[in-house]
Amino acid sequence: MLKINENFVKLPASYLFVDIAKKVQLFSQQHPEKEVLRLGIGDVTRPLPKSVIQAMKDAAEEMGSSATFRGYGPEAGYLFLRDAICKNDYQGKGIEIDPDEIFVSDGAKSDTGNIGDIFDRENTVAVCDPVYPVYVDTNVMAGRAGDYSAYAGWSKIIYMPCKKENGFLPELPEENADMIYLCFPNNPTGMGIHKDELKKWVDYALERHSVILYDAAYEAFITDPEMPHSIYEIEGAKKCAIEFRSFSKTAGFTGVRCAFTVIPKELTFNGISLNRLWGRRQSTKMNGVSYIVQRGAEAVYSEKGKREVRENIAYYQNNAKIILNGLAHAGFEVYGGVNSPYIWLKTPERLSSWEFFDLLLEKANVVGTPGSGFGQAGEGYFRLTSFNTTENTKEAVERIIKSFSAA
Ligand code: MLT
Repeated sequence: MLKINENFVKLPASYLFVDIAKKVQLFSQQHPEKEVLRLGIGDVTRPLPKSVIQAMKDAAEEMGSSATFRGYGPEAGYLFLRDAICKNDYQGKGIEIDPDEIFVSDGAKSDTGNIGDIFDRENTVAVCDPVYPVYVDTNVMAGRAGDYSAYAGWSKIIYMPCKKENGFLPELPEENADMIYLCFPNNPTGMGIHKDELKKWVDYALERHSVILYDAAYEAFITDPEMPHSIYEIEGAKKCAIEFRSFSKTAGFTGVRCAFTVIPKELTFNGISLNRLWGRRQSTKMNGVSYIVQRGAEAVYSEKGKREVRENIAYYQNNAKIILNGLAHAGFEVYGGVNSPYIWLKTPERLSSWEFFDLLLEKANVVGTPGSGFGQAGEGYFRLTSFNTTENTKEAVERIIKSFSAA
């Protein structure tokens, strides 16, 4: 008789952002007259850069003519895009990464979720707490997480609490962590990491023969010059780290889908190249990203594209400032938001994360994300995003302040 993958049964019934969307939908159905402001899921709202649109239009035209039509593309991505990525994101910044170390995909969510395929089920996994749920849930699916208890979380996962006391930065685990997920600037806390701090992780990984799975999806929001945009700015990282990048938050591609993963050729375990394994995995399970989308992503690196992207990021950064300063001024305890689109807020009035979510929706008609949805250490916190119009952002801040006393 057929047996299913029992690990899926162990998972929470649905994904965090699906739960939230359902609650908000229900609220809107019950109160159609209320204008709900969404500062919940980290989804961009500004339109795509004009240069990206033009490039995609041109590419669509090419697909319509037999002389320039293209079918399946290279699984790892067209060389024109991998070249542009290398030149702009790495070589131009003094980091030696070659195009054949880049794998273009449809999203960092897919890549961070799928990367576990090339690692043994027995590996120990370390994650920050709070954490982007994809890292944990996909390891549950793979059978690496053990069993869940409300008190301790997943029995085999090494949790690295990121709290106010440690500046919301993880501490090196005493245990041997084989697969270490790090995300900086962090989702959900919005905190960035300095080079000297990240070096400790690279040293740890090199010493213990671990791999760092480094999610840099929010690097475009970094303002602090001491914060690395890539983990490969740290010496030795090419021997122990895989980096995930995305066009989603940088260039507004959440609905277009394009990202890339970097696996240096130097990254080997027992003489086996992870670059080769991932290439094998990807070429078996996917046929790459559409030509039209890759031309759009290439345009992000044109002079006009860079300018437009900078403007969009600056717009969201200004929103983050409005939230951070507005709430801080009203006496709320707020973190993040400087090198990140996310603001991490201590819930007022000693409310739990979900209590605050419900009350905020009810009283202020504002949606955020409960910190506890990202892990136990997120209890008592709440995440707001700057991905909205400046008008809505200001309005949301006013409504929050009006509805809650920060004391
Ligand atoms: C979030 O809200 O945390 C983001 O939407 C995560 C993602 O990019 O999948």
